[in-house]
Amino acid sequence: MSATLASISYIGAAILFILSLGGLSHPETSRRGNVYGIIGMAIAVLATVFGPQVTAAGYAWIVGAMVVGGSIGLYAARVVKMTQMPELVALMHSLVGLAAMLVGFANYIDPAAAGVFQGTEKTIHELEIYIGILIGAVTFSGSVIAFGKLSGKIGGRPVLIPGRHWVNLAGLLVVIWFGGSFIQAHSVAEGMTPLAVMSVIALLFGIHMVMAIGGADMPVVVSMLNSYSGWAAAATGFMLNNDLLIVTGALVGSSGAILSYIMCRAMNRRFIAVIAGGFGTEGGAPAAAGGGAQPAGEVVPILAPETAELLREAKSVIIVPGYGMAVAQAQHTVCEIAEHLREKGVNVRFGIHPVAGRMPGHMNVLLAEAKVPYDIVFEMDELNEDFPDTDVAMVIGANDIVNPAAQDDPASPIAGMPVLEVWKAKTSIVMKRSMASGYAGVDNPLFYKENNRMLFGDAKKMLEEVLVALIA
Ligand code: TAP
Repeated sequence: MSATLASISYIGAAILFILSLGGLSHPETSRRGNVYGIIGMAIAVLATVFGPQVTAAGYAWIVGAMVVGGSIGLYAARVVKMTQMPELVALMHSLVGLAAMLVGFANYIDPAAAGVFQGTEKTIHELEIYIGILIGAVTFSGSVIAFGKLSGKIGGRPVLIPGRHWVNLAGLLVVIWFGGSFIQAHSVAEGMTPLAVMSVIALLFGIHMVMAIGGADMPVVVSMLNSYSGWAAAATGFMLNNDLLIVTGALVGSSGAILSYIMCRAMNRRFIAVIAGGFGTEGGAPAAAGGGAQPAGEVVPILAPETAELLREAKSVIIVPGYGMAVAQAQHTVCEIAEHLREKGVNVRFGIHPVAGRMPGHMNVLLAEAKVPYDIVFEMDELNEDFPDTDVAMVIGANDIVNPAAQDDPASPIAGMPVLEVWKAKTSIVMKRSMASGYAGVDNPLFYKENNRMLFGDAKKMLEEVLVALIA
């Protein structure tokens, strides 16, 4: 393939990636967005493999790598459950970071590159390598820790070392200082020491940064690492002199940054404060994944037939899904219940919290899969004021996102986070298996409110019982 044709293909792929991002911004166009992305990526891979930068000798390596990578990807796609997607994504971000690091080192020690760049060009090239490895290392180790936290292998509680801000500042200064020595190095052997020291510091910083972030703030970290992986890819593009990788990386990096900003707004946090870490430590219950907090107060349990009765009598119902709906895979039964109620003239709507579940848009994806009509799915801000006029608020496997302590208890680790005010409905029904806490590890005063009922059990099983009772 000629260089011109490769460039045209790259431009086409870049346009398709932009269209893909545009499509993914709304559930109705997201399928089209995915198709654009797939076509764009196919063009990008073909144009690169058959482009002028790859010689015939490289084909065997490329095919070998594609077979290994493709097989792992195929296997992962088949065995990974929907609820494990967030941790899989974190793991994939870590691979982008690792790739940026390896490309950086390979680029630096490549004997073919020796003498190619001189003067200012050489300095710029070395800066690309240094910054590329830096971003790659932070992305790599940070994503591995995020994977551990999301999969529950590492506790959700923030781990804070004394004087952590000073440690971070000292690390930054050392990295800048070694950056100077790296640029001034006269040989590859001389430059390797500052490069290695910086890599170790960046790896430690990635670990430290994510370890210091508490349970409920993880969404910001996930989207932030998503952004970092984009910048790492862009840095790789600079090192490899590949325009498409630069454009694609910048698209992922900037859209991830926008997502982090949206997540911060959803959590009512300042971005810098989240990065500095330590939320969930000042007073109140410490954040700990998997339910560390002790329940306090009496709850009123309810059974499926009584739930069906309440729903049957309601004029207006708001359904609030959370992570438990994903675990139970209850979305299809929820959809059937909503359909049945709508046929009977009940005003049924879904309320989606921006950080419900474990990844951005988690609930939207599940509801779309179950074919819930988009026009009855609303963002939190769109219907939070409607709860006082709602007869039944049905909470399905959600916890932190409906916790009134976020508004009432300034000492709570989730204080200040906007929540869906389900307790303002005439009756709220919380569907979950036990009194265990949610991701942030804090007790939920909603459960003890007079107008709240607890429907204990697996969400799918309980909803099936509710549906049977509704139809009977
Ligand atoms: P959570 O607060 O984690 O609560 C989920 C609840 O679902 C749990 O209390 C659990 O209680 C219940 N559950 C689990 N399996 C169930 C099943 N099979 N049937 C019925 N219930 C089940 O979830 P949420 O309300 O969606 O809030 C999300 C939390 O995750 C927030 O703290 C958020 O910050 C964090 N987070 C979000 C993201 C993104 S990007 N969305 C990323 C990382 C972390 P039982 O065990 O008693 O059943």
